[in-house]
Amino acid sequence: MLVKLIMALVLLSVTTMVQVSIADTSFIFNNGFQSANLTMNGISVITSNGLLQLTNETGFQKSHAFYPNPVVFTNTTSFSTTFVFAIRPQSQTLNGHGMAFVISPTKSFPNALIGQYLGLFNMSNNRDPKNHVFAVEFDTLQNFEFGDINGNHVGIDINSLNSTKSAPAGYYANRFHFQNLSLNSGVPMQVWVDYDGSKKQISATLGSINVNKPETPLLTLSQDLSEILTNPSYVGFSSSNGERIASHYVLGWSFKVNGEPQKLDTSKLPKLPRLRGNEQSRILPIVLPLLSLCAIALAGLSIVHYINWKKKFSEIVEVWEQEYGPHRFKYKDLYIATKGFKEKELLGSGGFGSVYKGLMPGSKIEVAVKKVSHGSRQGMREFIAEIVSIGRLRHRNLVSLLGYCRRKGELLLVYDFMPNGSLDKYLFNQKPGVTLNWMQRFRIIKGVASGLCYLHQDWEQVVVHRDIKASNVLLDSEFNGRLGDFGLARLYDHGSDHATTHVVGTMGYMAPENTRTRRATTKSDVFSFGAFMLEVVCSRRPIEQGREEFILVDWVYGLWKKGEIIEAKDENLGTEYKTEEVELVLKLGLLCSNSKAEHRPNMRLVVQYLNMEVPLPDFPALMSSPSCCGFKCGSNQDLENFGMSFPSSGTDGYHSRTSIAESVLSGGR
Ligand SMILES: *[C@@H]1O[C@H](CO)[C@@H](O)[C@H](O)[C@H]1NC(C)=O
Ligand SMILES: *[C@@H]1O[C@H](CO)[C@@H](O)[C@H](O)[C@H]1NC(C)=O
Ligand SMILES: *[C@@H]1O[C@H](CO)[C@@H](O)[C@H](O)[C@H]1NC(C)=O
Ligand SMILES: *[C@@H]1O[C@H](CO)[C@@H](O)[C@H](O)[C@H]1NC(C)=O
Ligand SMILES: *[C@@H]1O[C@H](CO)[C@@H](O)[C@H](O)[C@H]1NC(C)=O
Ligand SMILES: *[C@@H]1O[C@H](CO)[C@@H](O)[C@H](O)[C@H]1NC(C)=O
Repeated sequence: MLVKLIMALVLLSVTTMVQVSIADTSFIFNNGFQSANLTMNGISVITSNGLLQLTNETGFQKSHAFYPNPVVFTNTTSFSTTFVFAIRPQSQTLNGHGMAFVISPTKSFPNALIGQYLGLFNMSNNRDPKNHVFAVEFDTLQNFEFGDINGNHVGIDINSLNSTKSAPAGYYANRFHFQNLSLNSGVPMQVWVDYDGSKKQISATLGSINVNKPETPLLTLSQDLSEILTNPSYVGFSSSNGERIASHYVLGWSFKVNGEPQKLDTSKLPKLPRLRGNEQSRILPIVLPLLSLCAIALAGLSIVHYINWKKKFSEIVEVWEQEYGPHRFKYKDLYIATKGFKEKELLGSGGFGSVYKGLMPGSKIEVAVKKVSHGSRQGMREFIAEIVSIGRLRHRNLVSLLGYCRRKGELLLVYDFMPNGSLDKYLFNQKPGVTLNWMQRFRIIKGVASGLCYLHQDWEQVVVHRDIKASNVLLDSEFNGRLGDFGLARLYDHGSDHATTHVVGTMGYMAPENTRTRRATTKSDVFSFGAFMLEVVCSRRPIEQGREEFILVDWVYGLWKKGEIIEAKDENLGTEYKTEEVELVLKLGLLCSNSKAEHRPNMRLVVQYLNMEVPLPDFPALMSSPSCCGFKCGSNQDLENFGMSFPSSGTDGYHSRTSIAESVLSGGR
């Protein structure tokens, strides 16, 4: 009996001890994470010398590392943590996405997205209060979709990548001096995150590794975290790479609940791996004397070589371009990347330029380089300004324009490379044996819709795409649809001598009012998007020239009138589809194809229809009401009222095109 009692007492004291230690979690990893037993997933590793490396030079990956035990967070809990991190981008001109300190109910994020989502959220749960996630992000890329302030900031994130509060990276060295820091400099930096559970106040402070904790925090926010966090929660780090790649490291970490964490001794932290360049500088002193001898001998040769080289890689840089520095690529780099613009690297060519695949020297980032010849210098300044502004567009359903380079009579545009090429290849069996299933197609349609909505309505200025069609939609490695070529059509006008004679767009996608007025609007984009939706569902081009001319929208409309609209779908879809969704897209395709611009929905509404947040308008009523829209019942009228007033010249919907924005990036071709 007594024994049992003692045992029970011992047990009790052990459990209370454990509880106490959990309740007041405290740990420090100052000379490596080898013993930390962190819970890791993705590509995170502990390097041989004890660094926590979240990501390495592999793209499209997410990584997490969490302290293994849960941490008790009640409504009175305070905590403080400090850690040292470093971000090494693959190249100084192309930042990675960044990393975050995270407190979360779980240690894994299987549904979270890579890239700008930092491995934390996805498009549907970003901003969802059910996430119960608190994070401090160290963001190295400006994402307008999340309202990022710049490409080098610290932000407090609550359940969302739209930071509640953010500030450019740096610290208050004293009351009068703010010292900027560059997150992606590769140099270790220290962070302090403190939460006062009684004042309900969060503060985040950044500093150089060799300074004491700055007195003034970079960010403070009044917020009761107990309303956000679950009890218990886990603490750790998250990071991801997309096409943009950086290595994210944590060198040391100290954490304490309800008290001051132990100080990190920065001299004891594991060292970052040496950069390749540094090795050279160690060897250099030995080699230098030898080298200088050779140099003299070679000088003569070099001068000749140099002159040739200068000519080969010469660029045009004007004073006004200086502000665009980061967007400007060196011709030499692009030349090397594309192996001298070799034919083998050619992805496609259109009426006004060729697109080459390239591998950027050093960073090993894959890009697509478009070479456009331009005649006049007139308007060049405005043209480049617009290119740079377009280059600031960031959306997961748009192909990013990374920058440009200018030579005599030649302009080079550098884009993200899309490994899976253009969508039309998959729709029209040019990739034998590969058919996109319904889920993929629906996701592509929704993605392109949201990209277009961003161009039309969400960005700071309205960008009309002018040439939406399957061959301008590129597929990234996860088969997300990304719209390429946006705004370029308009831009090209500035630099081209013959632009005014061009009608931009592609037959079959061009709104009727567009052929008359030649003024592209967001509504004419919606028309093209309608044709695009039908194209994706039916795997047929808007206009096909056979023995008889086939007009897709007319055919779908006919089936709809017979109550058989579902028959329009691509046979190859098999049986794995939702009738409701297929019908929705087909009907929406018809709705967007209305010949009267004012009756077409805007892209915001299209997105809502596609997400089934808003039901489609009562369709039959809409179609038969002549006053309401262009659909009159009647035989030939139908065709015209659908806006099918195409010239029946020898076009197959694409090739006798007048588009100047033809197949920029028809990757994979
Ligand atoms: C490490 O963590 C795992 C689970 O997170 C646990 O099973 C294991 O016992 C831990 N090892 C040590 C040495 O703490
Ligand atoms: C990155 O890490 C993963 C997983 O540890 C590894 O398979 C891959 O080879 C690494 N990539 C590079 C470029 O080091
Ligand atoms: C904390 O939560 C407990 C119950 O969960 C509640 O009784 C208490 O009043 C709360 N305290 C504060 C300060 O909100
Ligand atoms: C987003 O993540 C949430 C939470 O993990 C998950 O329930 C949801 O299905 C995900 N959505 C998508 C589109 O992946
Ligand atoms: C994030 O913020 C931006 C800018 O404030 C806003 O346009 C965007 O809709 C927000 N994102 C979400 C998912 O609500
Ligand atoms: C610090 O960065 C800001 C932009 O974030 C810039 O406007 C300012 O000029 C920089 N200050 C210094 C001293 O470099």
